[in-house]
Amino acid sequence: MKQYQPELYWDRLFAPSSCLAVITTVDASGRVNAASYGTCTRVNHNPVYIAFTCRPERDTARNLEEVGEFVVNLPRFDRESLEKVRVIGLPFARGVSELEKAKLTELASETVRPPRIVECPRHFECKVEWTKDWMGRRMVVGKVTAASVDQDCVDENGFVIWDRVKSAHFCGAPYHNMFVAAYETMSVGVPYDGPEVEAFEESERRLWANLEDAGR
Ligand SMILES: Cc1cc2nc3c(=O)[nH]c(=O)nc-3n(C[C@H](O)[C@H](O)[C@H](O)COP(=O)(O)O)c2cc1C
Repeated sequence: MKQYQPELYWDRLFAPSSCLAVITTVDASGRVNAASYGTCTRVNHNPVYIAFTCRPERDTARNLEEVGEFVVNLPRFDRESLEKVRVIGLPFARGVSELEKAKLTELASETVRPPRIVECPRHFECKVEWTKDWMGRRMVVGKVTAASVDQDCVDENGFVIWDRVKSAHFCGAPYHNMFVAAYETMSVGVPYDGPEVEAFEESERRLWANLEDAGR
C-alpha cells in the first residue's frame, strides 16, 4: 500500500541525498518510457528539488521536451531489482516500454502524467524547473510536486526505515554491474562547545517551526 507523504517529509524520504533511480516519463501521445540513472541527486531541501543528467538524444530527454514531467522511482538494493535496473538501462527503440521488458508494474501518479513503479518503494513526482546542456549531457532539475512511499517503509516522523527501503547507489560508469548498499543510520552529536552550536540549533528550530506552521 502506497501512502503519500506531507511536504514536510519529502526531504527525509529522499535519503541518502543521492540514490540509484529509475526515471519514468511519457511522450506527447502518452507512451511510457523508463530509464536507469546513477546521477540522481537531491539538490535542495525546501522546497525539494531533484537533479540528474541524461543524454539529450535519448528518449528521456526527448520526452521531457514534449512533457516536462517525470517520476523518480528509487529501487531496492536486492538482486532482482538491480537486474531489472540493468534491463531498463538497455537501448530500446523509442516507443518500447522498458517497464514491460523488465516486467515491472505501472501505478498512476497523482500530480504528473508519468506513472510510478509499484515494485519501487519510494516515488517523487516532479515537474521540470530547468535544464542545461553541458559537456554533451543534459542536466535536468525538477521540483517535487508529490512524494509517496510503501506504508511500511517510513516511521511516523517520515524517516525512512533503512532496512526496508534498502537504498542503492551505482558504483560508476560504464553502466554495467556494480552497485553499493547504503542503509546504515547513525545519529551523531557535535563535539564542539562554541556559541555556533546553539545559533545553528536555534535557526534549525525556527526553520522547522515555520515549515510546521505553514502546514507543509
Ligand atoms: C545502473 C545504470 C545507471 C545509469 N545512469 C545513467 C546516468 O546517470 N545518466 C545517463 O545519461 N545514463 C545513465 N544510464 C544509461 C541509461 O539508462 C540508458 O542510456 C538508457 O537506455 C536511456 O534510456 P532512454 O533512451 O529511454 O532515455 C544508466 C544505466 C544503468 C544501467
